[in-house]
Amino acid sequence: MEERTALEERVAAEPGAFRILTGDRPTGPLHLGHYFGTLANRVRLQRAGVELFVLVADYQVLTDRDIADHLSEHVEGLTADYLAAGIDPSAATIFRHSAVPALNQLMLPFLSLVSVAELQRNPTVKDEIAASRQASVSGLMFTYPVHQAADILFCKANLVPVGRDQLPHQEITRTIARRFNERYGPVFPVPDALLSAAPSLLGTDGQKMSKSRGNAIALSAGPDETARLIRGAVTDGDRHIAYAPETRPGISNLVLLAALCQDRDPHAIAAEIGDGGAAALKKAVTDSVNEFLRPIRARRAELTADRTYLRRVLAEGDERANAVAERTLDEVRTAMAS
Ligand code: TRP
Repeated sequence: MEERTALEERVAAEPGAFRILTGDRPTGPLHLGHYFGTLANRVRLQRAGVELFVLVADYQVLTDRDIADHLSEHVEGLTADYLAAGIDPSAATIFRHSAVPALNQLMLPFLSLVSVAELQRNPTVKDEIAASRQASVSGLMFTYPVHQAADILFCKANLVPVGRDQLPHQEITRTIARRFNERYGPVFPVPDALLSAAPSLLGTDGQKMSKSRGNAIALSAGPDETARLIRGAVTDGDRHIAYAPETRPGISNLVLLAALCQDRDPHAIAAEIGDGGAAALKKAVTDSVNEFLRPIRARRAELTADRTYLRRVLAEGDERANAVAERTLDEVRTAMAS
């Protein structure tokens, strides 16, 4: 795989030559882990002139039965999170699976290009299956990397910003693009994965930040909830505050959070608190998170008060995505028929 910095340089030199496809499952509010892990990066790349397709992956939620109940609420909430974080809907296409039939139709030829053994080997699917704690694995869960290939290839995206855990999926997408082109002629780009440079933020309990673990600070959380979550964060008994992720993960994660919010070096933040102990650290972190999130929360509150606007953003995105998907499906049909 191409080194991240080399790819970043190509993107910086010619942003107009890249189209990004990225997305999230609408399973609940986005949190600071999402913000610093991927959202900030999307906004940065969009401002640099890269075209953005952002998928609200509502069919991927079908793999996870519990939350399907509040789906439309989550879809609108996710859209509000995107816009509040700075994604510009006039330049980005924000759309959902369920509104783009031609995207979903690509799944059928794509399924013919991968073997069951290849899907069985996919470590991300293995993890997802283990995490889902479901008694049996649905065919959709098993094949969702192929669906994800359709997500990426329907709009011929050539750049996919991902976390490390998504790299095996990305390989399946690249394999499918290559095999399709070899068998039927050149239709698809072979997309590059762009790994995030951001260090990963843990939840307040020291585990991976995730809404289901109750350790995540949502972009939509209020100042009091934020304070409560940070007050409960794991620390250690050493009053001296340092940034040492390996040996002092709890303290360092809090330092990192403040550093990301203030856009400063974590060592400088730690030095500032010095021997102040965990209480001083937590106060500083709470203040910086609340300060950082203030404008995002204000924008989000305005957006959620205007559901008609959110629905219109989605409807326009769906329409653009449909036009692109139908064009690609036509090319696929033509290539397969000749
Ligand atoms: N699987 C991603 C997640 O769980 C969401 C997603 C769906 C996605 N389709 C995608 C991400 C295509 C990148 C590209 O968050």
